[in-house]
Amino acid sequence: MAETTVNALTESNFGVRGKADGNPSIVVDGVFVDGTFGRGGHSRLLLDRLSSSARLLVFDKDPQAIEVANEMSRSDPRIIVVHDGFGTLPQQLYNLGIKEINGIMLDLGVSSPQIDDAKRGFSFMRDGPLDMRMNTSRGYTAAEWLAQASINEIREVIARYGEERFAFQIAKAIVSRRESRPLCTTLDLAELVASVVRTREKGQHPATRTFQAIRIHINQELQELALALTAILRSLATGGRMAVISFHSLEDRMVKQCMAAAARPGASMARLPVMEKDMPKPVLKLLGRYKAKEQEIKENPRARSAVLRVAERTEFALPADQGASFVKAMGLVDPGVMFSDGGMAYGAL
Ligand SMILES: C[S@@+](CC[C@H](N)C(=O)[O-])C[C@H]1O[C@@H](n2cnc3c(N)ncnc32)[C@H](O)[C@@H]1O
Repeated sequence: MAETTVNALTESNFGVRGKADGNPSIVVDGVFVDGTFGRGGHSRLLLDRLSSSARLLVFDKDPQAIEVANEMSRSDPRIIVVHDGFGTLPQQLYNLGIKEINGIMLDLGVSSPQIDDAKRGFSFMRDGPLDMRMNTSRGYTAAEWLAQASINEIREVIARYGEERFAFQIAKAIVSRRESRPLCTTLDLAELVASVVRTREKGQHPATRTFQAIRIHINQELQELALALTAILRSLATGGRMAVISFHSLEDRMVKQCMAAAARPGASMARLPVMEKDMPKPVLKLLGRYKAKEQEIKENPRARSAVLRVAERTEFALPADQGASFVKAMGLVDPGVMFSDGGMAYGAL
């Protein structure tokens, strides 16, 4: 997927009749963004294709990822490091005096180092503190949230972000358990959930959906994605590309719907007597949907659920709402909340 993602940003004929391969000898100029630096795998591949005057703005919420990014930037002046969510893209571009970008890639979700480190609290397979924050320097942990949230709030988060049928039973068990003993560790939560989720999905731990839901909530992942999608439409230069890799259906749905709406803004008017010239113009051109190849899945089984979607900004201006209506906020819990890591309200959409 890394190779295909970088090809998507650098190959002029990417997506033409399903074409996804690349020519690493092509050198590209411009301003690019890696919104999810991780350990820099995608960034390194992209930097290999960028000219010496190009810029690569890299974001991550995770302090350990940022350490790696800072280290890389010391020997490569093309890299600009931002320790913040990619939802802050507009503010960062403004601060840097950058008017438009030529490409952006997002590889959503958590990284393998985050999942594999028990101390981060993302995995029900490893016993550790119930933290789950990508940015460990801000916001409340999963344990802190579960200790004070109402039963309704917990149920809603687990139902919406985990699409979990047993959300009410799980929320009830959490609230009843915390009356005697707080939930402090990942195994505390995994065992409690396993005791109330009666059916097992094939190959899945009963706590999979609950962990996913709480992680999405703690990191405000969908709110941040929604902010980023509108920001991307506004900042991509004509011909600039966006390449987004999603790992679960909620984020993929949001990306797919945004791209489809921006590529066919007149779809809902198709049956109305509107002249062609008065139809809203597409601001994105779709360049395809890609899945990991068998070999990559063998090397990294987590790649099985990954979906890459690519689109290109057209020359047409955004509608009067600046593209806000292309991003559907459906399914978000408590749209009025402030981000756990401060500053931005979802209402800013
Ligand atoms: C799947 S990993 C990316 C791996 C990366 N492509 C690489 O090659 O190493 C996702 C990374 O994005 C970060 N992340 C997730 N959501 C974020 C957000 N909204 N803003 C900034 N970073 C985010 C996570 O902390 C994690 O390090």
